Amino acid sequence: MSFFAYQGGVLHAEKVSLNDIAAQLGTPCYVYSRAAFEYQWQTLESAFGDHPHIICYAVKANSNLAVLNILARLGSGFDIVSGGELQRVLLAGGDPAKVVLSGVAKSTDELRFVIQNNIRCINVESIAELERIQDVAQSLDKIVKIALRVNPDVDAQTHPYIATGLQNSKFGVPMHDALATYKLAASMPNIEVFSIACHIGSQITNLSPFKDAVNRVLDMVSELEEAGIIIKQLDLGGGLGIDYQGETPPSAQAYVDNLLDTLAQKNISLPIAIEPGRYIAGNAGVLLSRVEYLKHTDAKNFVVVDAGMNDLLRPSLYQAFHEIVNVKENSDQPSALYDVVGPVCESADVLGYDRNLKIEADDLIAVKSAGAYCFVMASNYNARPRPPEVMVDHDEIHIVRQRESIEDLTRTEKIIGTSD
Ligand code: LLP
Repeated sequence: MSFFAYQGGVLHAEKVSLNDIAAQLGTPCYVYSRAAFEYQWQTLESAFGDHPHIICYAVKANSNLAVLNILARLGSGFDIVSGGELQRVLLAGGDPAKVVLSGVAKSTDELRFVIQNNIRCINVESIAELERIQDVAQSLDKIVKIALRVNPDVDAQTHPYIATGLQNSKFGVPMHDALATYKLAASMPNIEVFSIACHIGSQITNLSPFKDAVNRVLDMVSELEEAGIIIKQLDLGGGLGIDYQGETPPSAQAYVDNLLDTLAQKNISLPIAIEPGRYIAGNAGVLLSRVEYLKHTDAKNFVVVDAGMNDLLRPSLYQAFHEIVNVKENSDQPSALYDVVGPVCESADVLGYDRNLKIEADDLIAVKSAGAYCFVMASNYNARPRPPEVMVDHDEIHIVRQRESIEDLTRTEKIIGTSD
């Protein structure tokens, strides 16, 4: 189901022409579809049927307040990795009682903030962190629910930078340390053992790594039970992939059925939390950009556009593929093979290699699947203000973030002078 489609020869987001958005806001510009976020969230929600569950959207994928608010209104929970992300969730009207905190380096200040806000669960990644949580909880006179994030040592078969479940990863506690760590947690006066968590990686496009990880987690649940430690919820992380380039990831229903079947095979029926980010946001947005120039050299043809790696880093950092299309459906230009490159002074500033395009200067392009891990990873490199973000809702355009100005970029800086 795509909420970005050609209508009358022009690419639209829902009912709004991307030409109109570019005319109104300029380029580059992120454009999102409200219906797309809602549809994706609902497919996961309904896939669980009546199995007790909570969907904790991974805020890091796209943390715009409008996105968080749309999901909060559906009843979503949130997976956060910083105090800042909790502040965003609260500003967007999210319920802290549905928030889980992950991350390897939780600071004392962050722990104090999330504990004061009574979040649902802290996913613990080390013994040192557990001890810090106990100290902070005691100082606030609170009991804190925790999960241990275990590292199941499963190959997620994804890009190494986004695989997190292997032995050499900084994330989680090795399985063989889990029992002792849970025993320690259970002995702490201000800690309540609640859940077990695992997240093996991102953009996973087949079911077997999920199945392997869940099986290992369930074995650990049984081992803990034998030791008198009762787990009340399974947090199975995020990771479900999307179609960027013709991949065929499992549907939400197949993904959830696989989780539920794996539980059923072991006769375990526990409530499930999941932390999807990319699945919900990835195909809910595009980056709209304008062609500045066509450039031809002996070796290559280039489409030089006004969006660069500072706006959308994934191709440069992960060699990620994002489909690039002309907003005009039927260009009369000859088809040719181009590298689509941005204005940043880096050879890595390439949005797409060897793309077959019919294109000319001043055309608009859309870089697709740009709803997750795109705006959030944008930077001001080369003193480039970050683009605006627009949420389309049917035929309405909502500017949910203004384009940054140079004043925004320099506001917190100062020149040292003789009067200092
Ligand atoms: N839970 C935890 C603990 C995570 O670390 C992540 C993602 C998620 C949930 C959400 O995973 P998802 O459902 O989105 O796959 N910047 C990279 C992706 C980094 C993902 C980090 N952790 C990219 O652009 O591909």
